[in-house]
Amino acid sequence: MTTTPFPPELLRDVEKRRTFAIIAHPDAGKTTLTEKLLLFGGAIQLAGTVKARKSARHATSDWMEVEKQRGISVSSSVMQFEYMDHTVNLLDTPGHEDFSEDTYRVLTAVDAAVMVIDAAKGVEAQTIKLLEVCRLRNTPIITFVNKMDREVREPFELLAEIEDVLKITCAPVTWPLGMGKAFRGVYHLLQDQVLTFTPGEERRSDAQVLKGIANPELDARFPMEVGQLREDVELIEGASPPFELGEFLAGQQTPVFFGSGINNFGVQEILHALIDWAPPPQARDTGTRRVQPAEPAFTGFVFKIQANMDPRHRDRIAFFRICSGRYSSGMKVKHVRAGRDMKLANALTFMANERVIMEDGVAGDIIGIHNHGQLQIGDTLTEGENIGFKGIPYFSPELFRAARLRDPLKSKQLQKGLQELGEEGAIQVFELEGGQMLLGAVGVLQFEIVAQRLKDEYKVDAIFEPADIHTARWLSFPDEVTRRNFEREQALRLGKDIDGNPVYLATSRYNLEVTMEKWPKVTFHATREHG
Ligand code: G4P
Repeated sequence: MTTTPFPPELLRDVEKRRTFAIIAHPDAGKTTLTEKLLLFGGAIQLAGTVKARKSARHATSDWMEVEKQRGISVSSSVMQFEYMDHTVNLLDTPGHEDFSEDTYRVLTAVDAAVMVIDAAKGVEAQTIKLLEVCRLRNTPIITFVNKMDREVREPFELLAEIEDVLKITCAPVTWPLGMGKAFRGVYHLLQDQVLTFTPGEERRSDAQVLKGIANPELDARFPMEVGQLREDVELIEGASPPFELGEFLAGQQTPVFFGSGINNFGVQEILHALIDWAPPPQARDTGTRRVQPAEPAFTGFVFKIQANMDPRHRDRIAFFRICSGRYSSGMKVKHVRAGRDMKLANALTFMANERVIMEDGVAGDIIGIHNHGQLQIGDTLTEGENIGFKGIPYFSPELFRAARLRDPLKSKQLQKGLQELGEEGAIQVFELEGGQMLLGAVGVLQFEIVAQRLKDEYKVDAIFEPADIHTARWLSFPDEVTRRNFEREQALRLGKDIDGNPVYLATSRYNLEVTMEKWPKVTFHATREHG
């Protein structure tokens, strides 16, 4: 434990950071919300970029498009803006067909998440998966129930579904006054006031605020809707728990806001919740100790690697979350895994439409480090200390393909290519008995990108064929005898990951269950940490 007091200036800067991601099922309104949040932060130009990226994403995903998307996404995958004397870092999580392991890992680098729910659809598949990942670290979640200007489901029913499916308690903070065509605004339960909604108008002032739920002006203006609101509020006060900051910070309770992203309604409340309630950068675990964000020595970890636009240069950017200390250009750091020093110069930040050179960064900030293969996901950089941050996981892939070469003479190149792309985190690679390479991913686009990169960067023409694998589990054994017995009996179902760890490759959920039952002493892990 360090006994040095935290430098006050550093502490002050850290307290002002908010680093978060938006999680949503495709089409729930993540892009729209991102744009509106950026507008509040004054990054209007960048809001345009988000839209551009979205339309690129809708285009067919031939290689040019994939490349274009990757290029654009480098500059919009981290968006930093200032709001109310705070520095907010919004980390993008790709949500559509390019959904990949990156999405999961980005969530290990945030301190909070905003969950967008489409009020007509409720909790959808991708939301469930993303929330599971947030739960690994008990990340606090703010919920935005979007599209209230449409014909949507009953708010109580939506909350019940969130609680049932996602296993998180809902504490409504705002409540809708009418919905669909009759959506009139929201009642703020903590401030006891109604914020009125006018379609198509971007609410920015306090002019449309009506104080008090008993306010007769509400009866005069919204005679059809106000009765229901008062009934609902009475019910909430009886049945729903009040918002508790501690519960929220522990990831047990989520404050719920209703609104309409496209109309910029309810968005500012989300920003205020982030500033007022979401935590500043938190202490992070390493194998040996917890690193406090305001410790003077610089530390952090790589959570994502992105290949750059130009495949010929094999230039990549490592996205690095600062966990303590202060970044300054030209500083010397220790690359803990490699056991050597490196100089951090010209790191990038992503403040505006373009990448700019980062001048200064503290815990919670993300910097982009030019990388020619020396940095891998999960790598820790420090100012000398030998520690490694925990909790940047590999997730068990959900899709599998076997790699086959068109030209068998290229097997060395294939191996090298897959090894490097696997280390970079673009795909998971397993080697089976007999040397066959199996690829695992959580999103199909990962295969497309890897096939194209093998061709461009390694001159290997590989075909990926469907593989009869349902899921993978990392294994740990209580003793050598069990290991040997298991390996002998299960040889056909065993593989090794890129770091040589044993993995069980199940053909079906049933197959996995039977094997687990048969080998109660062997532990089957659905995730594995890097490093
Ligand atoms: P995503 O990033 O989560 O996929 O969602 P996105 O913001 O792109 O929103 C998906 C669709 O929902 C878009 O319509 C968007 O305009 C619409 N939308 C977002 N927020 C609201 C809202 O508060 N109310 C209503 N009524 N619609 C909303 P689209 O037709 O798919 O795209 P676009 O042509 O409008 O861009």
